Amino acid sequence: MTELPAARIAPSLLSADFARLGEEVASVMAAGADWIHFDVMDNHYVPNLTMGPMVCAALRPHTTAPIDVHLMVEPVDALVPAFADAGADIISFHPEASRHVDRTLALIHDHGCRAGLVFNPATPLEWMDHVMGRLDLILLMSVNPGFGGQSFIPHTLDKLAQARTRIDRWRAAGGQPIDLEVDGGVKIDNIADIRAAGADAFVAGSAVFGQPDYAHVIAALRDGIAQGDARRRTAENPDPSPGRAADSLR
Ligand code: DX5
Ligand code: ZN
Repeated sequence: MTELPAARIAPSLLSADFARLGEEVASVMAAGADWIHFDVMDNHYVPNLTMGPMVCAALRPHTTAPIDVHLMVEPVDALVPAFADAGADIISFHPEASRHVDRTLALIHDHGCRAGLVFNPATPLEWMDHVMGRLDLILLMSVNPGFGGQSFIPHTLDKLAQARTRIDRWRAAGGQPIDLEVDGGVKIDNIADIRAAGADAFVAGSAVFGQPDYAHVIAALRDGIAQGDARRRTAENPDPSPGRAADSLR
């Protein structure tokens, strides 16, 4: 088991006050967030409608934080240049929504952004097999996309561990770094499990926005992440059993 990369917390604007988005971004960054997660829904790929590139461009001057755009749209390609021009840093999409996944990943890079592939709860990890070299980020959905405030689907933890193994093998073979982000139902009381399973970026919408004290929530999320790290270390180096210790004295 390898040491995980530093953890990034990415509050999702989906649960922010849409009448005060600029202030919400500033508040959450001042409270210790790392990325801004920007959910784009088109009322076609998912049954909800949110924000487009104009909103992203309007927010860009309000923060230097990476804007992590999660496209829940179909088709994908026409929006890639629009979000790159609007100041997105990372653009992720669902492979089922693109007819040519490899081409879409290349398009994102051609526009100077980092590229991510998003896996719904029922999307097999095999979708990443032939495009690992083009990925900067893998985003695992732990709810079905479309709405904030849903409950974390527990079997995502197994899938997360499998994705972690794939990334670690890829890195060990000399591949580029790939972030592993989780999105949906991430809360203070489950983030330790999610970290222990191998995530290094955490989207949190309703756990952060709408809460009275963003800094308090983000600190509590970081505590949970530290607990997840401790659990991984214990799993790697369990205390020697009394029998073993006695053996070693002989
Ligand atoms: C769901 C979105 C998520 C969502 C997370 O389709 O992709 O980013 O906003 O919200 P919570 O953290 O409330 O589940
Ligand atoms: Zn999202």
